[in-house]
Amino acid sequence: MTLQTNYIGKPTSRVDGPAKVTGTAKYAAEYNVPNLLYGYVVSSTITKGKIIKIDTAPVLALPGVHQVFSHENVPSLALFDRSYKDMLAPGGSPFRPLHSAEIKYSQQPVALVVADTFELARYAASILRIEYEEVAFETELRKHLDDAYEPGRGKIGFQPPKSRGNFGKGWKEGVAHVEAQFSHHAQHHNPMENFATTVEWLGDKNLNIYDKTQGAFNSQQVVTGIFGLSKEQARVISKYTGGGFGSGLRPQYQLFLAVLASLELERSVRVSLTREQMFSFGHRPETLQHVALATAADGSLTSINHVAVAETSQFEDFTENVVGWSGMLYDCKNVQLGYRLAKLDVYTPLDMRAPGAALGSVALEIAMDEMAYAAGLDPLELRLRNYSDRDQAQDLPFSSKALRKCYHEGAAKFGWEQRTAEPGSMRDGNLLVGWGMAGGVWDATKLPATVKASLDADGHLTVSSGTNEIGTGTYTIMTQIAAESMGLPLEAVTFVLGDTTLPVSPLQGGSWTAASVGNSVVEACTKLGEALLKQAQKMDNPAFSGVKIEEVEFANGQMRLRADATQAIVLRDVVQASGEPSIEAENSTIMAKLEMLKPPKYSMHAHNAVFVEVKVDPDLMTVHVTRVVNAVAAGRILNPKTARSQVLGSVVWGLGMALMEESVMDHRFGRYMNKSLAEYHVPVNADIHDIDVIFVSEEDDKVNPLGIKGLGEVGMLGVAAAVANAIYHATGKRVRDMPITIDKLL
Ligand code: MOS
Repeated sequence: MTLQTNYIGKPTSRVDGPAKVTGTAKYAAEYNVPNLLYGYVVSSTITKGKIIKIDTAPVLALPGVHQVFSHENVPSLALFDRSYKDMLAPGGSPFRPLHSAEIKYSQQPVALVVADTFELARYAASILRIEYEEVAFETELRKHLDDAYEPGRGKIGFQPPKSRGNFGKGWKEGVAHVEAQFSHHAQHHNPMENFATTVEWLGDKNLNIYDKTQGAFNSQQVVTGIFGLSKEQARVISKYTGGGFGSGLRPQYQLFLAVLASLELERSVRVSLTREQMFSFGHRPETLQHVALATAADGSLTSINHVAVAETSQFEDFTENVVGWSGMLYDCKNVQLGYRLAKLDVYTPLDMRAPGAALGSVALEIAMDEMAYAAGLDPLELRLRNYSDRDQAQDLPFSSKALRKCYHEGAAKFGWEQRTAEPGSMRDGNLLVGWGMAGGVWDATKLPATVKASLDADGHLTVSSGTNEIGTGTYTIMTQIAAESMGLPLEAVTFVLGDTTLPVSPLQGGSWTAASVGNSVVEACTKLGEALLKQAQKMDNPAFSGVKIEEVEFANGQMRLRADATQAIVLRDVVQASGEPSIEAENSTIMAKLEMLKPPKYSMHAHNAVFVEVKVDPDLMTVHVTRVVNAVAAGRILNPKTARSQVLGSVVWGLGMALMEESVMDHRFGRYMNKSLAEYHVPVNADIHDIDVIFVSEEDDKVNPLGIKGLGEVGMLGVAAAVANAIYHATGKRVRDMPITIDKLL
C-alpha cells in the first residue's frame, strides 16, 4: 500500500487529549466497580532477616476488616519460581511476595490488610504488629567492587560487551590521555500515577484486572502463571498509564496482592501503593564507571576503555547496556569494555528511561569533553574527527545515520561557533556562562505485533492491538497511520489498546512501539483493503472486476481505481453489501518472527546531539539551564507534535539526571531516605527554560517499511553530559559524580 501523506508526518493533537483533560480517561485505581474491598500493603521495616511473629488478632477484630494476608496464610500458589517470571525478568529467581518469612530488602511487602474502606485498611495496617529478627545486610556498592562478577545470563537480549583490538597498544600510541571515574546514585522513576490494581470479581474465578502496567499481556502472564488461571479468567485491562518510564515494564507486587485477595475473598479488590512504596521496587541502579581515552596528534581515538560496575539484588541479575555504546559511537580500533554486577540487599533494579545508555553516555561524553581540552580541540570537532560511518561493534553498516546532520544543524541553531573554549571565559553580567555539548545513540527496534483492522457498516474503522500507551502518543500516531492507510479522516478512525482480549502485542518500552505496532497497522490495513476489494468484486460493479489490490487506492472513504479515480465505491457500501456488521482483517507476525531469527544486515539506531547553555551564579553556584538544543535523527517522524513532546520530556529527564535526581540511601538502615516528591527532586516548571527540538531529515528504507526509529529514549541521551560539560565550561569544575548539586560546585 503506497502511503500518502495526509496524516503521517503532520503535527496532530493527541486523540486522547480530551479524555485526559476532562477526566474521562480512567487509570487503574479509578475503576469504581461495585462492592469493592481495599487492600493496604504493609512494608518491612527491616532490610534483611525474617519475620518471627505477626499479630493479626487485634487487626482482624476491627469491624470491616476482612483479612490480613501474609506468608502464614497464603494458599498454595505456583511451586516453581519460573511461574513468577514476567517477560522482562532478568536471570535469577523473581521475588515472590508473601512467599516466606524471609526479608530480602527494605520495604519488602510483608502483609496485605483488606477492609471495607481504604482508610480502614490503612489504619488497620498501622496497628499490625510484626516482630522481626534482623541480620547484617550490605547495601553499599563501593564496598563490594571486589565481589563484582560478569553476568552470564541476563535479561532477555542482553549481550555482554565485546572488546576489540588491543587497548594497551592503542593507549601507548596516543599522545593525549584522559582517565576518569564516574558515579551515579540510584534513581526512581516516580511517574505521577502510583502503581495500583483494581480486580473486578466476576464470579467463578473470572477476573477483570485493571492494572497499571506498560504491558497488559505481561501482567496476564504472571497472573495466569502464579494462580493457575486461564487467559479467559484473567483479563487484564490497561487503557491509560500515568507515566511509566520503565517502572511498569515488570508487573509490580500490588498486582499479585490484589489478585490473591480477590480470589481468596471472592470479592472485587483494589490495592494501590503509596508514594513511599513507589520506592520499594525497581530503580535505575547505582553505577560506577571508569573511562580511559587516548587520541593521536590529530585527535583520532587510538583507544577506548569503558568499564561499569552496577548493583543488583541477591536474587536476580539485572543487566543493561551501559558500556556497549562506547564501542559503536566513535571510530576506534582498540576498544576494551567491561560490565560487572555486585549483589546487594536491595530490590532488583529496573529499566529506567534509556536504560544503560543514559548512564553510559554520561561517562563517555564527559570523558570526550575532557579529551577535547586535553587534545586542544573543540568538543564538536573532536566528535567529527572520530565520526563512525560503520558500526564497528557489530561490524555492520548503519541502515541510516544522520548524526553528522544532528551535530551541524544543532550547532548552527545553538550558535556554537560563538563559543570561546577557555572555562570561565563567557559571562552574562555577573553570571558565568557555560556551553556544553554531547551526543547519543539508541537502538531502533521492531518486534512482532498483531493488529486487527475492522471497518463497520457506518464506515468507521476500528484498529486494535493489545499494546499499551504510557503517554508517548501511541493512540494518536496509530490513528494517523490507520487513517492514512485507509484514506479515511482521523475522526473516522478509533485505535483501541491496553486489553488482553485484543491481538497480542509487545509491551510498551525500548522505544519500539511506534515501529512495531505502526508497521503492523499498515499490514492489517493492507489486508483489510484486500478483503474490501474481494467483497467489492462480488458487487455489481464491472470496473472492479479482475482488478488487483495494487491497482486500487483508498481515499475520501472510498476505494477507487488508481488509473481512473472516477471509478469509486464508498467503503461503507461495501461493508453493507456484505451483510455483516463489519469486515475485518488481522496481520500475520510470522515474517516478523522469522526476521528476528536472522542475523541483522544493518546496524539500526537513532542518534542525537545536544547543546546546552548554563548560567552559574559565581557566589552561590546555583545552576540554571537557560537553553537546550536537541537535534534528533530518528528516521521518519510520524507526528512532529507528539514527537517534540517526547523529546522535551527527555530533555527534562536529562536535566533532572544532571542536577537533581538521586535516591539517597542511608546504609545504616539499608533504606532510601528521600521517599517523597518533596525530597526526591525532579525539575519543575521554574527549572525549565528554552528547549529547542530539531528533527533532522533521515530517510531509512531498511530499518522497517515505515522508516521509523522510535523516540521515547534517544532524546535523553547526551543531555546530562552536555549539562555537566557546560558547567565545566562555565566554572572550570569537572564534576563526575551525578547529580551535580551545589555542594559539589562550591
Ligand atoms: Mo522504557 S525504560 O523501555 O519504558
